[in-house]
Amino acid sequence: MTRSVTVRVPAKVNVQLAVGAPRPDGFHDLANVFLAVGLYDEVTVTPADTLRVTCEGPDAAQVPLDTTNLAARAALALAARYGVAPDVHIHIAKDIPVAGGMAGGSADGAAALLACDTLWGTGASREELLEICAELGSDVPFSLVGGAALGVGRGERLTAVEVGGTFHWVFAVADGGLSTPAVYGEFDRLTAGTDVPEPAASPALLTALRKGDVTALADALGNDLQAAALSLRPSLAGTLAAGTAAGALAALVSGSGPTTAFLTADEESARKVADALLASGTCRSARVAPSPAPGATVV
Ligand code: C5P
Repeated sequence: MTRSVTVRVPAKVNVQLAVGAPRPDGFHDLANVFLAVGLYDEVTVTPADTLRVTCEGPDAAQVPLDTTNLAARAALALAARYGVAPDVHIHIAKDIPVAGGMAGGSADGAAALLACDTLWGTGASREELLEICAELGSDVPFSLVGGAALGVGRGERLTAVEVGGTFHWVFAVADGGLSTPAVYGEFDRLTAGTDVPEPAASPALLTALRKGDVTALADALGNDLQAAALSLRPSLAGTLAAGTAAGALAALVSGSGPTTAFLTADEESARKVADALLASGTCRSARVAPSPAPGATVV
């Protein structure tokens, strides 16, 4: 009998993304406060003759199906570590915007890792899985753990952050993606010759999350990559303005963009902002999602 394992995995928004100067290895030290949001991909692994990846969903055509896909790389990394043949069919049911700054690729990597680990029964500890996640990419460990966390270093060294309520978001999906390395490169260009401060988590932001205080969170949101994303994609300014005009408490670029994120007072307000964003013609689609959301979970 062929057994399949399916893992559901959330998208994320960075409620604070403080970026330091480039390091000798080209990465940037971060103070990255991740919040998992209720938009999910589902990754199913099934034993097969050879490793292959398929994808379904509105943006499936933009998803690479070769070994550049983080889901395939996760299966290969786990198989190599535990001496297992990586012969699985990985199917991704994709609902997270692609190349949008919501860690969709990282989510699929974490989900495939957990799914293969369950299928193969490797007995890997949580720490070992997190170590493999960190090798796959800076955002992958957070996709495994979900909830809310502060990531330091490249963003991969996580500490859980307490969240005392539900926050309601709208995500405006732009046409086309933005390359994360290109956005970091633009950040370096824009900050060249300036004194880039050491990144540090904002105490006001952490308090707002802990208290579930949406007004205080709206005041404390921050993304140091926003200027770089806007420089590469000036039209995002119009999307941010449309969401604010429609009643969002705060608007920011999600991670390296081009998805934009709008924090709203409640679910009803989120729906209104989403409708207004769509009507404004400044985005391709607008999605409502609550936070926090659980990390990668076998379903
Ligand atoms: O870790 P990940 O592969 O997701 O990073 C993608 C790219 O984003 C890196 O190649 C680098 O250009 C940039 N990056 C960075 N500093 C970080 C995380 C990512 O410069 N902390």
